[in-house]
Amino acid sequence: MSNTPVVQIENLMKQFPVGGGYFTALKEINLQFETGEFSGLVGPSGSGKTTLLNQIGGLDSPSEGDVNVLSMDLVGATHNERAALRKEKMGFIFQSYNLLPVYTVFENVELPLILNKVDSKVRKELVEQAVEWVGLTDKLGSRPSQLSGGECQRTAIARAIVHKPRLVLADEPTANLDAKNSHQIMKILVNLNQELDTSFIFATHDEKIMEYLKRIIHLDDGQVTEDELIAQPKMS
Ligand SMILES: Nc1ncnc2c1ncn2[C@@H]1O[C@H](COP(=O)(O)OP(=O)(O)O)[C@@H](O)[C@H]1O
Ligand SMILES: [Mg+2]
Repeated sequence: MSNTPVVQIENLMKQFPVGGGYFTALKEINLQFETGEFSGLVGPSGSGKTTLLNQIGGLDSPSEGDVNVLSMDLVGATHNERAALRKEKMGFIFQSYNLLPVYTVFENVELPLILNKVDSKVRKELVEQAVEWVGLTDKLGSRPSQLSGGECQRTAIARAIVHKPRLVLADEPTANLDAKNSHQIMKILVNLNQELDTSFIFATHDEKIMEYLKRIIHLDDGQVTEDELIAQPKMS
């Protein structure tokens, strides 16, 4: 059912308790994402990008409204059901890479496959393929401390896509990288989007990322202010 939306958000509101009251971080969010999208949540710091990405990842629950991801109603689902959805069908990329320092590139990328109980021979093939996609075949045995920032993020990308997820969420993936590495990362991600038909949702305020996006959803003060389809994104 590839015409079912990958993500459907209805009347989402999110409040956090602060002091004696509440701070409303997201309000009246209605959004839909389709298969194969390459979209970004864009807005100033504090506009609610990470809060919204966490809602889509089922990492936090809404105060009001509904979030449906890959045909699962996240509000009605149990903690374990949401965890299984993340493990099996989603990938995550963070600003800070979140690699395990004592593990090699191979072992870091292998981790999602171990969690998904993939057989070791298939694991090896999938890891080698993912690492080749990000151009790190010669670093399979290296540990994160022996890699540059760009290489760490490429390792994290391989880990995010090794199990061929349906949806990848990337929160400020280039925030710690220089321009050259940022462009390299975005080119890799555009190619993966096209090869794997994986949907990507970014949270960013980096102009270098925005050039590649096919859809830009502007957030301000917890609300969508503009939902823009880009006619000619870079590399499309
Ligand atoms: N757990 C929390 N408790 C209280 N306030 C929060 C919490 N998480 C986020 N916020 C607030 O919600 C707003 C949006 O935060 P965030 O989604 O992290 O913004 P962005 O990712 O766009 O920079 C900010 O004002 C932030 O301080
Ligand atoms: Mg953020």
